[in-house]
Amino acid sequence: MLARKIKLVADMATKRPKGWRSLLWNSTMAQLRRPGPLMAPVHVSIEPTNACNARCSVCETGKGDMARKTGFLDEHLYKDFINKNGSDISVLLYYFMGEPFMHRSSYDMIRFARDKGIYVETCTNGDFVDPEGVIFSDINKISFQIGGMDQETHGRYRARTRFDKAIANLEELVRIKKKYPASNVEIEVGFIVMRHNEHQVGDFLEWAKRIGIDRANVIDPGVRNMLEAHAYLPKDRKYWFYDEEAFERGILKPKKLPDNECVWIWNSIQLNWDGTAVPCCRDPNGKFPLGNVFEKGLKAVFNGEEATAFRRQILTAQGDVSICKLCSGYGLPELQRAKPTGFVIERHSVNENVIPSHEEAIADAQNTILRDRSGVQ
Ligand SMILES: C[S@@+](CC[C@H](N)C(=O)[O-])C[C@H]1O[C@@H](n2cnc3c(N)ncnc32)[C@H](O)[C@@H]1O
Ligand code: SF4
Ligand code: SF4
Repeated sequence: MLARKIKLVADMATKRPKGWRSLLWNSTMAQLRRPGPLMAPVHVSIEPTNACNARCSVCETGKGDMARKTGFLDEHLYKDFINKNGSDISVLLYYFMGEPFMHRSSYDMIRFARDKGIYVETCTNGDFVDPEGVIFSDINKISFQIGGMDQETHGRYRARTRFDKAIANLEELVRIKKKYPASNVEIEVGFIVMRHNEHQVGDFLEWAKRIGIDRANVIDPGVRNMLEAHAYLPKDRKYWFYDEEAFERGILKPKKLPDNECVWIWNSIQLNWDGTAVPCCRDPNGKFPLGNVFEKGLKAVFNGEEATAFRRQILTAQGDVSICKLCSGYGLPELQRAKPTGFVIERHSVNENVIPSHEEAIADAQNTILRDRSGVQ
């Protein structure tokens, strides 16, 4: 741990990647146990939409349990935000509680951030991915997240998605990436291990190697309560992020809980589609709103009363913060060097007709919430 910190500081002092001053200052403030003032966050996550075609039953969006309004990021507000803050941001995580490629302007919005020298990555269920659009966007990393090796196991958790579509889009992306050697995209596939698919992990790793992706990731499953734990946690406990002994006593908690600290939120911020900031991705329902960055500006929100008070509570009474109870913290965000976009391609093939319109997607989300609240299947 100490060796990693020393290497990090040495790397920053010699290589000086974008954001190094902020990371050094903000992390020092965390170490000194001061809630602020902070320099800009180096790591920003932004939500293109909280609508989704899928119905994953542990996800607030998928199970119709989202307390926030469903909507889509406004492209103009986004571009203005990137214009104002792009020079401070090292990494942009382009997803949160929805399917990023249900936003019709995603490829352009990603490209816009890439043109400002920001490293961009995203995660997707794969159904609506347009492979040529991905190459055009010059995104640095895209992770297709699957729930099994066939429709039966995949669709059990990734309900309402099409295994064959996601795989076809992924394989096409691997194929056309070869045509663009200057493309920066790293292609990952993640496999969320659950009770019903744990027997397929070996097949997954073999397949991932065969199709020539850059990285395969076996993902420990997250659950929100004991009921979900019993339904989804794999039998093989090597995939468990949770404390086994506490589990036997009927308590769900991670193996390690942070102890009045979280250096992650001294360096990063999470933005909902409407610009409202929350501390981190563990707050999908916006329980801890910190202010709207489109209205007040990123630095003002990051150093605002709400954010400072939240960090103060982390330092003094983290045990009382509801969203921290199932989290081990995320450590220090990594600064990434983003190679400039080194090529030009025209994008011809995005077929917007296959993506629901924003209005249809919002109505669909609304129907799921109403159905779930009335108990009708
Ligand atoms: C809410 S999703 C949004 C992005 C996109 N819709 C997707 O699912 O990839 C964010 C991340 O949560 C992951 N995820 C969803 N349910 C999960 C679970 N039960 N355990 C672990 N990761 C999960 C997804 O695979 C994805 O990496
Ligand atoms: S695909 Fe992603 S956003 Fe959609 S329901 Fe599943 S986890 Fe949630
Ligand atoms: S939920 Fe996790 S990442 Fe968020 S503030 Fe708590 S410990 Fe930090």
